[in-house]
Amino acid sequence: MTSPDSQTESLDQQLLETITVQDRQYQKYSIDHHISFVPIDDEEEERLEIQHRVFQRVFDDRLIFPPVPRPRRVLDCGYGAGSWAIEAALRYPGCEVRARKAFCFKRTDRRSSKVTGVDISSHMIPDDIPDNLWLQVDDLNRPFTFPSNWFDLVHSRLLATGLNRSRWQSYFQDIKRVLKPGGWVQIVEIYFNVQSDNGSITEEHGLRQWSARFMRSLEDTKDLRVGTRLKTLMMGAGLVDVDARMIPLPLSAWSGDPRMREIGLANRDNVQRLFSALAHYPLTQRQHMPQEEFQALVTKAAQEADNPKIKAYFPV
Ligand SMILES: C[S@@+](CC[C@H](N)C(=O)[O-])C[C@H]1O[C@@H](n2cnc3c(N)ncnc32)[C@H](O)[C@@H]1O
Repeated sequence: MTSPDSQTESLDQQLLETITVQDRQYQKYSIDHHISFVPIDDEEEERLEIQHRVFQRVFDDRLIFPPVPRPRRVLDCGYGAGSWAIEAALRYPGCEVRARKAFCFKRTDRRSSKVTGVDISSHMIPDDIPDNLWLQVDDLNRPFTFPSNWFDLVHSRLLATGLNRSRWQSYFQDIKRVLKPGGWVQIVEIYFNVQSDNGSITEEHGLRQWSARFMRSLEDTKDLRVGTRLKTLMMGAGLVDVDARMIPLPLSAWSGDPRMREIGLANRDNVQRLFSALAHYPLTQRQHMPQEEFQALVTKAAQEADNPKIKAYFPV
């Protein structure tokens, strides 16, 4: 079906279907095809917005780190609630920002058509988006169909729960292909194995149990440790001038350093939701953990994340 605005085509019905599991909504297609097991409901949209604000504090309000002063074409892989893509489009009005998210859709010429079709993220994306932001729907596990030498910057943030383990190598090759010579890729991933600044987390802690169970629940299909090998992957794809940094993201306001304390305070709200949001489907549906056990684990992990003596952080 093509809309009256001829530049818009509707998504297949199957891409719009959702399923509800214990009050959380998921995209059915994504679950059925083992793409993403993260909810796509209002609660997740709110969490992603909070998380984006946290990252903006961590990155001192910079959206783009590499030297791309006047980006013309930017690709945002996995736009989620659209926070980064919308801000980038507003901050760089002379730039077209393209953002990709799960699922395919019949496309018109991507060079001239503004995609506004309904997608999995239509309820995570605000109604009003900047004119220079084009949203389209696709599965990033599949090869990119963008022209070569096209983008000044590719931004990719928190896709470890959605990209297949076997995809990372070709993902970076695709990114390299679509980047203009001299273009940049900027990627952020969380390593979900919670750490402690004073080494106080043991196997008995809910935080360690949550990390271990969550990572195990997806290990047949996703690589939740990919954050630790991004540099190797990028260099393997032939990207050059690669700079990788590990940044500790405090789970609550435990730090003595005022800036990190403020970040931890802001992140607390995200973290208290994240334990349940990310692990709910993988643990209760894929690993068949009883709901009560899951709730107890999440509550324990959340309490420990809040305990200033544990000094818990995620390596980012
Ligand atoms: C954790 S969210 C991060 C959203 C955004 N990048 C941010 O940092 O706020 C991950 C997003 O990637 C999308 N995603 C996951 N796997 C994907 C895939 N294989 N193809 C396209 N999008 C995917 C999810 O639907 C979700 O919206």
